[in-house]
Amino acid sequence: MKPHIVLKLLLLSLTFPVIALSPGDKVDNFRLLDHHGDAHELYYYSDASAVVLMVHGNGCPIVRNAMPAFREIRDRYADNGVRFLMINSNLQDTRETIMTEAQEFGYDMPVLMDETQLIGESLGLDRTSEILVINPRDWTLAYRGAIDDRLTYERQKAKANAHYLDDALKQLQSGQRIKVARTEAPGCIINFTDRDRESHAGISYASEIAPILQARCVSCHQTGGIAPWAMSSYNMVLGFSPMMREVIRTQRMPPWHADPHYGEWENDRSLTPAEKKTLVHWIEAGSPRGEGIDPLAATVAIAPEWALGEPDLIIDLPAHQVPATGVVDYQYLRAQNPLDHDVWVRAAELVPGDRQAVHHVITRFTAAGTDQRRAFRGGATGGGFGGYVPGSSVWLMPEDAGVLLPAKSNFVFQMHYTPYGKATTDESRLGIYFYDKPPTHRMAGTVLINVQLKIPPNAPAHSETTQYTFPQAAEIYGMLPHAHYRGKAARYTAYYPDGTNEVLLSVPAYDFNWQTFYKMAQPRRVPAGTRVTFTMTWDNSAQNPANPDPDREVRWGRQSWQEMQFGTLSFRFLAPGETVERATAAR
Ligand code: HEC
Repeated sequence: MKPHIVLKLLLLSLTFPVIALSPGDKVDNFRLLDHHGDAHELYYYSDASAVVLMVHGNGCPIVRNAMPAFREIRDRYADNGVRFLMINSNLQDTRETIMTEAQEFGYDMPVLMDETQLIGESLGLDRTSEILVINPRDWTLAYRGAIDDRLTYERQKAKANAHYLDDALKQLQSGQRIKVARTEAPGCIINFTDRDRESHAGISYASEIAPILQARCVSCHQTGGIAPWAMSSYNMVLGFSPMMREVIRTQRMPPWHADPHYGEWENDRSLTPAEKKTLVHWIEAGSPRGEGIDPLAATVAIAPEWALGEPDLIIDLPAHQVPATGVVDYQYLRAQNPLDHDVWVRAAELVPGDRQAVHHVITRFTAAGTDQRRAFRGGATGGGFGGYVPGSSVWLMPEDAGVLLPAKSNFVFQMHYTPYGKATTDESRLGIYFYDKPPTHRMAGTVLINVQLKIPPNAPAHSETTQYTFPQAAEIYGMLPHAHYRGKAARYTAYYPDGTNEVLLSVPAYDFNWQTFYKMAQPRRVPAGTRVTFTMTWDNSAQNPANPDPDREVRWGRQSWQEMQFGTLSFRFLAPGETVERATAAR
């Protein structure tokens, strides 16, 4: 072998130990969606006595054959706090085909979908039906191999003589050394098309990596932006590379929480599977600088103050002091619309006073003379201009559709401030743009609310559903699901009068930090009588790191230790001029 190749291989092995994870090695965290669309983060299961992963693949006789034994062990250890999951890295399998196979062969465990194959690569998976036992005390691999010695290719014994998985679990639970920590697992070979790590060293920082970061990250990761560090040069990116790998694997960054399986979104911030692979492979190859000028150092992004030009009306939000550290409860700031006549609004933009401190803003208004406290409770005529989150500050109505802002109406702004190490005063501003003449369509919108919610103490996944039925045909534009620290997942489903239904939006890993308005790429027309349900799921267990108190039964309230089920739905009726009278949906 030529000396430079030896050196390259040596360097590769120093960066990430990917090739095959051995017992005793650390298993890095990840988050994947299962075949039902539910999110699973490995490190969430820190209270388990063991996490067992079985490698799944459709159409593999050995997996099918091993299932009864796997289920039997699962049932026996269910009370011992062992968590059983399956993982599928096959390129050819989809949720739908897995669902069919699961029904036929009785897989009643979540099958985690590793679409990018990045997790399978890092676990060193090779064949389906292999078992990985992970020790949550230090997240090391305790055992990998076969369930037992019963199955081999095209032959099987009637009974197993060696019970590897069972033994490993017993030994792990009693704190003993795992006697047999590695065996060969028979199974169907998984096609990892992109596992050749040597070729990843050729990924170009200048022409492949930097453009992805510019498109997907820099709007927040720039000087003065909301993110704590700026992607302002290769060196910055190099320093944060291992952290970037972690946040991509756990899907924390970019902050976008919709399940890509349902719907398409105009403001989609997510990385495509190909972009994820390119970034992570480049990082795992040691983040090579390569040739070419550094695009991140060469560009200086200067955004205009108002993206749409000077507004027709500017509302100054009251100044608010943000401390240097700590957690600030959601603040509800008020302001009055000074206009003594109604106006039709075509756009609005929220410009944060201190971009680093303002994490999100939800703008609502209620008609003059109504109780402002109801702005976040429904029951009053009113509306909203959606939410501000970093990177999307403009709220643009569809063509020839507008929101009527009544004279002297009251604004209520829900502000989420995040202290960033320096005390500051925020003075945010709302810019509003009018139509010259009334548009044909009135933007409507409702809030699906459930003030009766009751979340039992310590419940890991408590769901409640509220709904709205369209009295007339309408066109839906988007939605913003909102809850507090215990929010876990959110889902909007449309039930059509013909008996069919469709998931409009699923947010499997809701994050209260990111109040995203999900704007449909194509507005969805729905007939009269369509019922839209909004299901919120909360995690009131101690495993939810944000949970202020798992022992409390939680009810509706504006304080962060209370909860909300507040889902906006923006639409317009197809008939011109129509509106919704009441802003509250029936439960
Ligand atoms: C919409 C704004 C936004 C975008 C887009 C964004 N980030 Fe971030 N990023 C943040 C914020 C804010 C934080 C601070 C942590 C937090 O509040 O969640 C952060 C933190 C991080 C961290 C530090 C880890 C941590 O937990 O603090 C990394 C690494 C990171 N981002 C990488 C990325 C990468 C890579 C991309 C693009 C693929 C990206 N981010 C896109 C806003 C953003």
